Amino acid sequence: MSSAARFVDKVAIVTGAATGIGRATLARLASEGATLLAVDVNVDALAESADQARSAAGQAGRVETVVASITDEAAIKSAFAGFAERQGKLDVLINVAGVLRAVHSVEETLEDFVRILQINLVGTFLCCREALPYLLESKGNIVNTASTSAYFGHPYMAAYAASKGGVAALTHTLGWEYIKRGVRVNAVAPGGIATPMTDAMGAGGFPEGADMSLFAHLSRPDGIYGSPENIASIIAMIASEDDAYMNAEVVRVDGGYHG
Ligand SMILES: NC(=O)c1ccc[n+]([C@@H]2O[C@H](COP(=O)([O-])OP(=O)(O)OC[C@H]3O[C@@H](n4cnc5c(N)ncnc54)[C@H](O)[C@@H]3O)[C@@H](O)[C@H]2O)c1
Repeated sequence: MSSAARFVDKVAIVTGAATGIGRATLARLASEGATLLAVDVNVDALAESADQARSAAGQAGRVETVVASITDEAAIKSAFAGFAERQGKLDVLINVAGVLRAVHSVEETLEDFVRILQINLVGTFLCCREALPYLLESKGNIVNTASTSAYFGHPYMAAYAASKGGVAALTHTLGWEYIKRGVRVNAVAPGGIATPMTDAMGAGGFPEGADMSLFAHLSRPDGIYGSPENIASIIAMIASEDDAYMNAEVVRVDGGYHG
């Protein structure tokens, strides 16, 4: 864990904080002094994440949780407003929540395609929209989570890849739209990171008959995955004043396999 303290007196929201990259990001910001709201749909894992973040910070009471879907407009509106008003401000929004499902595109249902876009893209936009009024006051910033899937063919994951391409475009657009009003908007685009999402793919998540040779360009030749902490440290750097000149950027972190 870092000895940096870049988020002392900073107030931040992390979505998708129950597991994986979101959990590691929550702990990282807590360890650097942030006051946090952790958002997720996974009740038990979210409580565990909050406990871990409090231990990482060595302080109790600086991590609030809310169990809500990022697609629930009323719940997100009230959770973000309530938190920002209790804390007197909001400095940072980190959008990590997301879902992945693999299917032969010829068999994909429109219902499932839309569900994935609704969570990964529309939910990310909703959180940005609800945080922006507070970020405009604090001259704060947003870090979204895209994916290398936005840039390189990701077979059997058309909805996921399209949603992450949308997150990248949303990031460029919001970063530019608010550039003169002091709010930065960036994203991280991870490659293969060892989390429950990738574990689920390894445990039978690919559709029957999937041609795994199509994945040769999507993994490192040594088979090494990144860790959630690797991504959390990049997110923390982007969200901190260390990177105050970075804006409207999507930062690829994939261990070099697309180098
Ligand atoms: N693991 C990877 O290799 C990888 C690569 C590129 C991008 N990503 C992205 O990183 C982000 C985090 O994924 P992860 O790998 O840590 O997986 P993960 O499954 O561990 O984490 C995703 C989190 O999002 C939460 N979530 C899902 N739907 C939600 C909703 N509607 N509202 C609120 N929370 C919701 C889940 O409960 C979970 O806690 C995702 O956006 C994912 O697409 C992951």
